[in-house]
Amino acid sequence: MEPVTLKVLRYRPEEEVEPTYQEYEVPCQDNWMVLDALNHVKERLDGTLSYRWACRMGVCGSCGMTVNGTPVLTCATYVEDVLPGPVVVEPLRGFPVIRDLVGDITDFMEKLGRVKPWLIRDEKKSPDEGEYLQTPEEVADYKQYSMCINCMLCYAACPIYELEPDFIGPAAIALAQRYNLDSRDQGEEERMDVLSQHDGVWACTFIGECSVVCPKNVDPAGAIQRYKVSATVDWVRSVLMPGRKP
Ligand code: FES
Repeated sequence: MEPVTLKVLRYRPEEEVEPTYQEYEVPCQDNWMVLDALNHVKERLDGTLSYRWACRMGVCGSCGMTVNGTPVLTCATYVEDVLPGPVVVEPLRGFPVIRDLVGDITDFMEKLGRVKPWLIRDEKKSPDEGEYLQTPEEVADYKQYSMCINCMLCYAACPIYELEPDFIGPAAIALAQRYNLDSRDQGEEERMDVLSQHDGVWACTFIGECSVVCPKNVDPAGAIQRYKVSATVDWVRSVLMPGRKP
């Protein structure tokens, strides 16, 4: 493979006010991922370049960046698929940049906590009483949403999140649905307090880019629409049958 030019958006707050592009000539090998090219830069050409990664196998969700304008996992994106160069590498949109390709994910982490992405039980079994059993059909109902790796590509692709930063966002809603749809969970009402707000599911206009970029086929847009339907049904029931629990 011919050497590839990586055009990387850099921001070093101690020495520049605005981000600037820097180009690197990288002798990429066949089957290299964009992350391999960045690692070559870091190890051989410029040790000051900052970015996140950990697993290199599409599991940890930390290597998300914008490559040629599209949010991707750089460990799962072949260099040859984004040629011809220069291959433009930028941080994920929608997150304040701390340094180079490293975004501040505090906002996402706070929103994720608000939807309580864990099993909530009104009454709990003691260990002697055994497991909470599920049928394969009950597992299948939420399994797709459990594949989320918190990579935040969906936030970077979402035009609503860019315009309305208070929007709770695709991954947080998909993960809320992962637990709402779990037959062992009894926390839907608690999550509804967050999801049914204006900044919750109703802010989504179903553009669907979140599902397009999701590397795990979680389909956050589908989760949001499914929640809207069930929230509407619950609202109609509460009007027709006041006092009834959703
Ligand atoms: Fe873990 Fe890419 S390095 S998902």
